[in-house]
Amino acid sequence: MAVREILRLGHPVLRQRAQPVPDSAFGSDWLTRLIEDLTDTMHAANGLGIAAPQIGEPWRVAVLEVPADNPRYPGAPAYPFGVYVNPELEIIDATAQGFWEGCLSVPGLRGQVKRPRAVRVRWRDPAGEPHELVAEDFPATVFQHEFDHLDGILYVDRVTDTRTLSFLEEFARYHAPAAPAGQARE
Ligand code: NI
Repeated sequence: MAVREILRLGHPVLRQRAQPVPDSAFGSDWLTRLIEDLTDTMHAANGLGIAAPQIGEPWRVAVLEVPADNPRYPGAPAYPFGVYVNPELEIIDATAQGFWEGCLSVPGLRGQVKRPRAVRVRWRDPAGEPHELVAEDFPATVFQHEFDHLDGILYVDRVTDTRTLSFLEEFARYHAPAAPAGQARE
């Protein structure tokens, strides 16, 4: 278990398309350690999710968790911890909804992004078992943000209006009071 360095905007690995985890790796010590490192790093940084490319591992793996008491995102609705290997997203409600997003790889900034309101997620767990769920509203945005990392896409690519880009201090001062609870995320 280890807290790993988080790559920042400009590192080329963040812009690569990550590779699927091969069948032979499910249940392996390698995958177990990768997931432990992702989890430790996410928790140490108080992130809501992290994808393997963000720690320099170009594989299609992400972890996600929205604790009820996250200090960086007060008011964000809680969402249980999960490990998503080789995930696929299907948009089931394309209605655009906007949230303030941030990213551990783009420290110190927030920007507004509009994304589809509801998605179906299919993935495999660390043992290789397939699963499926539907996410709506804020969690749907979290899934889309994290899985974008697996395709080399960062939220700043999707900021709807670059004039919303704000440093955290300015975000808290000028934007957060007017924003519904839970709109900022990492
Ligand atoms: Ni991110």
